[in-house]
Amino acid sequence: MSNSDKPAKPDTPVLPDKVIEFRDIHKAFGSKKILRGVTMSVMRGETFFIIGTSGVGKSVTIKHLVGLLRVDSGEIHFDGQRIDNLSEKEFYPVRKRIGMVFQHATLFDSMTLRENVALPFRKHRKMNKKTALEAATAMLEQVHMQDYSDSFPATLSDGMRKRAAIARTLAMEPEVVLFDEPTTGMDPVSARRIDQLIRSLSVDLGVTSIVVSHDLESIFSIASSIAFLYQGQVYKSGSRAEFASPSDAIVKQFISGESHGPMETPGF
Ligand SMILES: Nc1ncnc2c1ncn2[C@@H]1O[C@H](COP(=O)(O)OP(=O)(O)O)[C@@H](O)[C@H]1O
Ligand SMILES: [Mg+2]
Repeated sequence: MSNSDKPAKPDTPVLPDKVIEFRDIHKAFGSKKILRGVTMSVMRGETFFIIGTSGVGKSVTIKHLVGLLRVDSGEIHFDGQRIDNLSEKEFYPVRKRIGMVFQHATLFDSMTLRENVALPFRKHRKMNKKTALEAATAMLEQVHMQDYSDSFPATLSDGMRKRAAIARTLAMEPEVVLFDEPTTGMDPVSARRIDQLIRSLSVDLGVTSIVVSHDLESIFSIASSIAFLYQGQVYKSGSRAEFASPSDAIVKQFISGESHGPMETPGF
C-alpha cells in the first residue's frame, strides 16, 4: 500500500497550516493612518519576510503580535485563536509563544552572556539557577556563541550581541520568533551568520520566523515568503522567485533601490 492510499488520520494536522493571520488590520497614530487594511497569512515553519521602505509600518505590524500595539480595526489570529481583542492578562500566554528580537536588542551589561540567557529559563520556565545556567550554555551553543558564555556584552561585536539576544529569546521556546531588522548595521559576515541562524530555526527546529528587513541579501537567500508593504497595505506577496524579477514598477524600484520611480515615500 503506497502512502497516498492510506486514509488520513483524523488527528494528524494537515500541513502547511496558517499559524498567523492578519485580517484587514487598520492602525493610525492620531491623524496618521499607518496600516490601512493589512491582510496576510504566515504558514507554520516558514521564514516570512515583511519588506518595504522605512516608515511604512513594518515594525508597527509585528508589534501587534506581542501586544505592544492594538489594532483600530481588523482581526489577528494566532494558531486558531483570535488575539487582537485579548486583555493584557490574556495576552500573557501568547507572549510566551511568540518571541521578539528587537532591532536594538539589549542585554544586561552587568551580566555575562550565560547569565543573560539564563534569565528567561529562571523567570518563565522556573528553573533553579544551576539548571538555568546549564540550559543557557546549551542555547548559546545553538547560536555558536558558547565560547563567549562568560563574556560581558560590552566586549563583543554587534553581531555577537545579537546572536546572544536571539539565544535569550529562544530560551522561551517560542513557536514564532519576530525579528526586527536583525542584520541592519552589521558587517556582511555577521549579517550572513544571522541569516543562517534564522534559516536553521525553521529547518532544524520548525520554528516560524517573521523577519522585518530591507536587507536584500537576506531576503533573497532565506525568505520562504515575502510581503511587501506599501501605502498601508500588502501591495504584493509571494515567493523569492516572484520578487527576484518583478514586473511591477513599484516593487522593481524597491528591489533595485533606485531613488527615482513611481514609489511614494511615506512622510515626504
Ligand atoms: N507609538 C507610536 N506613536 C506614534 N507614531 C508611531 C508609533 N509607532 C510608529 N509610529 C509611526 O508609524 C510609522 C511607521 O513606523 P514603523 O512601523 O516603525 O516603520 P518601519 O516600516 O520603518 O518599521 C512611522 O511614521 C512612525 O513614526
Ligand atoms: Mg522598523
